[in-house]
Amino acid sequence: MSEVFSTVSRMSQSEILQRTRRDYDDVAELYDDLIRRGDVVTDALSTAMVDAFAGLVRAGGSNSPVVDAGCGPGQWTDHLDRAGIAAYGVDLSPAMITIARRYRPDLRYDVGSMLELGAANQSVAGILASFSLIHTPPDLLPLALAEFARAIEPGGPLLIGVQIIDTAGPDGWAPYDHKASPAYLWHLDALVDRLHDHGFDELGRMRMAPPAPGKPPAGYLLMRQGTGQG
Ligand SMILES: C[S@@+](CC[C@H](N)C(=O)[O-])C[C@H]1O[C@@H](n2cnc3c(N)ncnc32)[C@H](O)[C@@H]1O
Repeated sequence: MSEVFSTVSRMSQSEILQRTRRDYDDVAELYDDLIRRGDVVTDALSTAMVDAFAGLVRAGGSNSPVVDAGCGPGQWTDHLDRAGIAAYGVDLSPAMITIARRYRPDLRYDVGSMLELGAANQSVAGILASFSLIHTPPDLLPLALAEFARAIEPGGPLLIGVQIIDTAGPDGWAPYDHKASPAYLWHLDALVDRLHDHGFDELGRMRMAPPAPGKPPAGYLLMRQGTGQG
């Protein structure tokens, strides 16, 4: 494990969140530029998954909003709103939230943590976590998943985007030397196992080819919170 990860493994939860916040504040404008420039394949495949998520929210018929957890510059909150889905964004990084609000001053964007969404129990129709859970160390992941399970309505969809390892080690994850901030690669089966522990069932998944040589593949898990009706 590199120096960075052994440092992170000694940090408290609040130190980790502060570090992620600072790292993303530093790169927020650069990250936004990258997102706006986009990549045709990644954008097409990601949009397909976000639209599938939106379709499930619509079919659920809830009047509650969905949360874009770790929304960054807010491109998916914006996309969901344009698709007719009430959505708001939450992100640790005030600089990211400033950018998101710049594009859509009419939408709700909150500075906050997905470990404590601040939503009432079962008050959100769905949760999107697009490449944001990747920065949560595996030992803190149960906190985030428990928070999602608490906030989401029964039957609500959860879409998670992560970078992937195809071959599972014993833990199902590996450190990922992400450009912005320390992150973790997940084997999708291992992540599904963790999600099962919090009442989520898998509906489907996508694996995208690595965007460039030497880069990990990325993908999505589309999950649904059990209705508790067996
Ligand atoms: C790689 S960016 C992804 C942004 C956007 N969701 C996207 O798909 O482009 C990761 C974002 O997650 C946010 N983030 C990481 N950990 C978080 C946490 N615990 N709570 C809220 N936001 C978090 C970061 O601040 C950053 O904006």
